[in-house]
Amino acid sequence: MREIKITETVLRDAQQSLIATRMPRSDFEEILETMDKAGYYSLECWGGATFDSCLRYLDEDPWERLRFIRSKCPNTKLQMLLRGQNLLGYHHYSDDTVRAFVRKSVENGIDIIRIFDALNDYTNIKTAVDECIKAGGHAQGTICYTTSPIHTLEKMVELGKELEAMGCHSICVKDMAGIMTPQKAYDLISALKKEVTLPIVLHTHATTGMSQMTYLKAVEAGVDVIDCAISQMSGGTSQPATESTVFALQEMGYEINLDTKVLKTINDHFAPVKKKFLENGLLNPTVLGTSVDGLHYQVPGGMLSNLIAQLTAQNAMDRFEECLIETPKVRADLGYPPLVTPMSQMVGVQAVQNVLLGERYKNIGKEVKAYIRGEYGKAPGTIDADLAAKALNGEAPIQGRYAETLENEMENAKEELAQIANGRYANSVENVLSYTLFSAQAKKFFEDQEEKRINKISFNYTIRKVD
Ligand code: CO
Repeated sequence: MREIKITETVLRDAQQSLIATRMPRSDFEEILETMDKAGYYSLECWGGATFDSCLRYLDEDPWERLRFIRSKCPNTKLQMLLRGQNLLGYHHYSDDTVRAFVRKSVENGIDIIRIFDALNDYTNIKTAVDECIKAGGHAQGTICYTTSPIHTLEKMVELGKELEAMGCHSICVKDMAGIMTPQKAYDLISALKKEVTLPIVLHTHATTGMSQMTYLKAVEAGVDVIDCAISQMSGGTSQPATESTVFALQEMGYEINLDTKVLKTINDHFAPVKKKFLENGLLNPTVLGTSVDGLHYQVPGGMLSNLIAQLTAQNAMDRFEECLIETPKVRADLGYPPLVTPMSQMVGVQAVQNVLLGERYKNIGKEVKAYIRGEYGKAPGTIDADLAAKALNGEAPIQGRYAETLENEMENAKEELAQIANGRYANSVENVLSYTLFSAQAKKFFEDQEEKRINKISFNYTIRKVD
């Protein structure tokens, strides 16, 4: 029977979804060589929030982390998630930064780049896709899956055709909220298989409890690759478990070239890692459960935990229900953006403000204004006219691609970095990219590295005894 390929997400999405991307290299370095022997289609191991987290929390150079994984996994394709013109940051970067970042990602070991735009505005991914292809990488174009009156099956298929026309090597349907039902998966994957020739990947989360049913129907509809997480780090807001998904599909006669003994070794490795995160509180057991709120409110799991954190901080948890109801209304006013980074944060914060200030859009967030001005790309639907008028305040929204209005950034960033930490870090393009994306975190990281380097030298110097 047909072969189904598996991408393992434990090193990126699973740990991002369960433990806020706080897994240090020391938690997985010993198991990488084993993971390389499992037979995965690919290891999703970089990008998304891992880059930010390395610099901000883990005191790790993200590029070094990638090179290390590459050195231990020579036989398995390494995969990353890239937010199009946002790269791994939270606003749009200039094209010189995008091209340099994509090229360096491939040079440092990435094979497959999954490239998405939060609005499915593909003018925002075309530079990254183009550079990925030129650098010899596999460009995986992404359809961000969401439900709304304007996100019809026909619209999703149109997006798939656009990705094929751009030269992408494969298409990922990305259900970041875990709200895709088995029937919707069957319909969408069937339609895509009919209308495009590229391999189709499905990405979902176990949040609402449907994920393995959704994968099964997607497999029946002809999907080529599915994303799973090794069982210790699976379920809840993470991906469904690799082992049980494989077990069920193999019994049905699908060919899956994974070594189940190796999977067990990998899973055994992550058991104490998970235990550690449960004990230190970074893994909250509630994210491992099933939450059907996403089905009723169309609010992804990550947004729910942010919402709870925001309301708790403002001592306003009694307004939770109102905020939940307000969130989809804000989304509709903004033309139904898919609720994925950075749109999910924008919509969530605005909904809370609308509720807590007692008047809708009394205060419009800075990012929401930027979105309405067109700085994040084209809204999928129509933005509410009154809201747009209030936010723009007479200004004209940007026509075309926002990145065209940005000056090149790399030269300036290099000059600034040369002023930091004795200028020792400015000669590597990778470091300049870290600095361009996360200036404050990178500055602190390089200063800390420099301090350690100096301390290390003086520590190593011991005064010789002379007669
Ligand atoms: Co995901």
